[in-house]
Amino acid sequence: MGKPRDKATEQALRASIDHAYLTDESDVLTSLISGCEDLQYTEIRQQAFQLVKRSRDSQSPPLLNNFLNEFSLSSDEGIVLMCLAEALLRIPDPATQSRLIRDKLSDPDWESHIGHSPSLLVNASAWGLLLTGSLVKPDDGNQRWFLKSMLNRLGEPLIRQALQRAMQLLGRQFVAGETLTEAIQNSEKFGICSYDLLGEAALTTADAEHYLERYRSALFQLGELKTQSGKNVLKHSISIKLSALHPRFEYAQRKRVQLELIPKLIELAQLAQRFDIHMTIDAEEASRLELMLDCFEAVFIHPSLKKWNGLGLAVQAYQKRALPVLQWLQHLAQRQAKIIPLRLVKGAYWDTEIKLAQTQGLRGYPVFARKQATDVSYLACAHYLLKNSQAFLPQFGTHNALTIASIQQLATDDHQCYEFQRLYGMGESLYAADQSMPCRVYVPVGLQNELMPYLVRRMLENGANTSFVHRAADPDVDVDTLLADPFEHIKRFNFSSHPAILLPEKIYAERQNSNGINFDSPSELNSIHAQLRDATKISYLAAPLINTQYQRSAAREIFNPADQRKIIGEAFDTPSSIIPKVIEDAANAQIRWSQTSVDTRANMLEAAANLFEKNQHTLMYLCIHEAGLLYPTVRYADYKVPS
Ligand code: FAD
Ligand code: 2OP
Repeated sequence: MGKPRDKATEQALRASIDHAYLTDESDVLTSLISGCEDLQYTEIRQQAFQLVKRSRDSQSPPLLNNFLNEFSLSSDEGIVLMCLAEALLRIPDPATQSRLIRDKLSDPDWESHIGHSPSLLVNASAWGLLLTGSLVKPDDGNQRWFLKSMLNRLGEPLIRQALQRAMQLLGRQFVAGETLTEAIQNSEKFGICSYDLLGEAALTTADAEHYLERYRSALFQLGELKTQSGKNVLKHSISIKLSALHPRFEYAQRKRVQLELIPKLIELAQLAQRFDIHMTIDAEEASRLELMLDCFEAVFIHPSLKKWNGLGLAVQAYQKRALPVLQWLQHLAQRQAKIIPLRLVKGAYWDTEIKLAQTQGLRGYPVFARKQATDVSYLACAHYLLKNSQAFLPQFGTHNALTIASIQQLATDDHQCYEFQRLYGMGESLYAADQSMPCRVYVPVGLQNELMPYLVRRMLENGANTSFVHRAADPDVDVDTLLADPFEHIKRFNFSSHPAILLPEKIYAERQNSNGINFDSPSELNSIHAQLRDATKISYLAAPLINTQYQRSAAREIFNPADQRKIIGEAFDTPSSIIPKVIEDAANAQIRWSQTSVDTRANMLEAAANLFEKNQHTLMYLCIHEAGLLYPTVRYADYKVPS
């Protein structure tokens, strides 16, 4: 029996998640640190040292290391390669692909990479890129004419294919097979796995249906495997991404998503329950978190799943909301008297989150800006999970020896139930170094055209100079530096955020960034709704402004095109008799404007921009209603969870 519902506590817990969305880094860290004060770093370091040493002694796959060493992601070439590879698969037509290749490859210094790597493939890529670069550069009089002419004959399609081939080879490092059957064969030696059918961010309903069908058939296939094995020994699980299952998986569309997606999720969960296969919802972009929690709750409390402890989710410790999310989940699990298999990860979208917050002009970042802050948050969350074992089955996804050793120390109770997890193609030697650590492998399955976003995240993760696996593979990084205490680090910097990552409003030296609206925060969305409601109370009048005078004539009512009963306001049209004069005045004004100093013009534009920002809700109201875009009409009360 679960606990009776306590809606006030549930709401307070949800509000604290929202409150932490973009909050100040140092405030969060100060409160997180208190949970982990008992950790003994000397012992942790000793244990981690052994893991690193044994794993360094065993060789990592050379291709990826060579590639990443040669095309470091902090070099122009590395960045260009990643952009190209990522973009090529999203551009449908070869002509535009060629234009992108031409645009991207003309500048960087590909020559400097030739012959530097022991790998033939890496050198071949460098040659290929150099050739394209020289092909697309204007003739600089150098001696590579025959290469150019060869490439002129072969052309950019060859380069496209070469790049795609290189990505395919790299893809094999991280993806176990094109089909589930192939992936199961390739991962058999690893024991227990969680299969991930690649595909995310569906753009159309057809895409979403396609991914749903793949999840369904994967569950049937794993279920059959289990039945065939005769015993209940196979504990494989499946990982799903909600963005693959709905083309508008965003908070502002939550009513529609809840109506359309939750029944499908319940169906998948029922199937998983039938075969007793755990199903974990992957964590994606921070903007999707609130909606993900809503969906999770709806499925978790569904009466048909009330005895099933197999619905899990991933929580990202790099988000400032991580601990409040766990606190809310703990309450939910207790309420239902169920256990949540909880995969704790640090988070794979860090670069995206930083860039998105900047382009959206948010007031802060959803993620920490210091790597060590994420490590500390991870351990605070791990501590919370291990302490609340009646609510969670903790699963720790990490390839960091220091994190692993810290968790082993946190799990003081010998009977504590938990597992480690690693990604296919990563951390193999680390976990092989200590066979006593139970470790599930996350195994992606999919075709070449579906793997790119996943591959880009793995390349970033493996190539970043903050990444543990990247540094551990580099013999020049000494073990003491590698195993530095993250708590000490953040204390040394007084819990402050990283100085190189300025708040989104401050990223431009010469001006303030424009303020954006966070449509993914419930409180911010409520406040927008309230202000839009206020905007309905204003009576709007539009009139031509000529030589600083409003021109009035016969008023005309403006209706909402989607609902002709609703009057938005009144407009005075410009009388046709004065139009020649208006044009003449405008032409004269243009001369005055061009003679005005740049500073004055800039100040005027800035003042106009500030007025736009100040009146944004009124302007939003007018845009929505003049274009006939009404609020969503489905009420949550209309929605019934299927039985
Ligand atoms: P470390 O090198 O210790 O940590 C690297 C991480 O630190 C980065 O990935 C990032 O999260 C963080 N970081 C890097 N730089 C900074 C910075 N400047 N400021 C703050 N933080 C920083 N990821 C998801 O997002 N969703 C998932 O559902 C998911 N599922 C996974 C399942 C499994 C089984 C595993 C093993 C991983 C999964 N991941 C998922 C990926 C996971 O987030 C990364 O593998 C993980 O972050 C790497 O952490 P680490 O401890 O291995 O390495
Ligand atoms: C990702 O897709 C592993 O879920 C994680 O990057």
